[in-house]
Amino acid sequence: MQAIAEVIAPYEVVLIEDAAHALGGQYQTEKIGSCQYSDMAVLSFHPVKSITSAEGGAVLTNSSDYAEKIILHAKHGVTRDPNLMQGESHGPWYYQQVALGYNYRLSDVHAALGLSQLKKLDSFIAKRVELARVYQQALAHLPLRLPSVKECANSAWHLYMVELKHHNRLDVYQKLHEMGVGVNVHYIPIHLQPYYQNLGFKDGDFPNSELFYEHALTLPLYPTLTNTEQQSVIDALTQVLS
Ligand SMILES: Cc1ncc(COP(=O)(O)O)c(C=O)c1O
Repeated sequence: MQAIAEVIAPYEVVLIEDAAHALGGQYQTEKIGSCQYSDMAVLSFHPVKSITSAEGGAVLTNSSDYAEKIILHAKHGVTRDPNLMQGESHGPWYYQQVALGYNYRLSDVHAALGLSQLKKLDSFIAKRVELARVYQQALAHLPLRLPSVKECANSAWHLYMVELKHHNRLDVYQKLHEMGVGVNVHYIPIHLQPYYQNLGFKDGDFPNSELFYEHALTLPLYPTLTNTEQQSVIDALTQVLS
C-alpha cells in the first residue's frame, strides 16, 4: 500500500484498498482498515471471511466527506439532513433525493450478527495464525512453495495457498478430494474470464498470475478446523506428494 500510495501521489487518484481478505491483519504499525495509505478500505463479511454478517461488508475511511457520500449513496441518495438539501423544507416529514443512489443497507439482523462476530475477531485470527504456523512447519519439506508474509506485515490468513512445484494440480486435487480433504483453487485470473476476454484481454496478458493459477492449491484453514483435522490434511498431502 505504501508503494502504491507513493506512485499515485502526483495524481488526483482516489485510492480504495480492497481489504476483503485482510481484516485482522496488520501492515507496518497499523491494523488493516486504518487507511494509513488509502482513502478508503472495503471489507467483506461473506461467511468465509475473517468475520461474517452472513453477507455484506463495510467501507472504512478517515474522511468525513467520503463517509457522508457513502451513507447517502447507500440509501438511494435520499437525505433528511437540511445541510444537504436545496430550497425550503415542506415540513417535518421532508426529505430530498440529492443523488442517484442504491439500496446498499446492511439489515439490522445482519448488522447484529456482524457486531457479535466482531467481538470474536481476535480469537478467530489467533486460531488462523496458529493453523498457518503449523502448516508452514509441517509442509516445509514437501515439494511446495509455501506462502510468505513480509516482515512488515501480519497476515489474517484468510486463505492458505501453496504452489505445487512438480505435481499436476488436477491430479493432486482429485486425490485429496477422494481422501476427504476439501482443497480448493483461488483464483482463476480475472482476465481469463469471458467478460474480460470480451473486453479484449487475452491469455498471456498477465503471465505471473497465470503461472500462479496453474500451480495453486488452497488448503483448509478456518477457525473451527481442529488440530486432528489439520493433521489429517497434512498426512494426506504428504502421502499424495511422496
Ligand atoms: C479480494 C476480494 N475483494 C472483494 C470481494 C467481494 O466481497 P463481497 O462478496 O463481500 O462483495 C471478494 C470476495 O470474495 C474478494 O475475495
